[in-house]
Amino acid sequence: PIAKIITIDGPSAVGKGTMAKRLASELGYHLLDSGALYRLVAVNALQQRLDPNIASDAEKAVQNLHVEFDDDKVYLNGTDVTTKIREENVSKAASQIAVHASVRRALFAFMQAFVKLPGIVADGRDMGTVVFPHADVKLFLTAVTAVRAERRYKQLSKHAKNVTLDAVFSELVDRDARDSTRDEAPLIPAEDAVVIDTSVDTEAQVYEKIMQTVRLGG
Ligand code: C5P
Repeated sequence: PIAKIITIDGPSAVGKGTMAKRLASELGYHLLDSGALYRLVAVNALQQRLDPNIASDAEKAVQNLHVEFDDDKVYLNGTDVTTKIREENVSKAASQIAVHASVRRALFAFMQAFVKLPGIVADGRDMGTVVFPHADVKLFLTAVTAVRAERRYKQLSKHAKNVTLDAVFSELVDRDARDSTRDEAPLIPAEDAVVIDTSVDTEAQVYEKIMQTVRLGG
């Protein structure tokens, strides 16, 4: 048998992570959170005082990377960084480091090797376009910026005290711009992706639409 591949791409805070997790768990598939990988490279860079904007620094950060996934936790060089990788400064550094071809190439190999039976659900920016162009089902989630900023703000304010909606909004706009305009694997729906707008629908409605698409096989 051949492992099935379902991709979910889209901008920041559109709900990809939640949907991918739920779908993987319901189907009994493995979950590939590609954004977490870029976040891990970013944390590694920041810890070593490397500049995520400089290509040679980014290359160093992706080279000496020891990552372990254990249930819902992720370890970088032996340290639990599960919460840390979600911090705003890491989100920013991740999108800066994701611009570099050397970083994308290194992670590409890792992601391709991740494919396992019975299948995987992969979420990110370029899962359906670059990493898994032959995926069985491709989804692309969108939502207006205001809605995504609100969601991210609610999420962040659970853990951090000094976050403001304004700051979250402008970080999101910055990050979207960087992800959409870069030369390497910019954020764009695959031609054969099913696009779902999540601005108005509830989580349950979005999930139902995703399930329908999966049942129809894309
Ligand atoms: O999805 P998440 O917000 O965790 O991703 C963090 C950053 O990693 C994104 O802003 C993007 O720059 C980068 N990324 C990417 N390609 C992917 C997944 C994430 O460039 N497939």
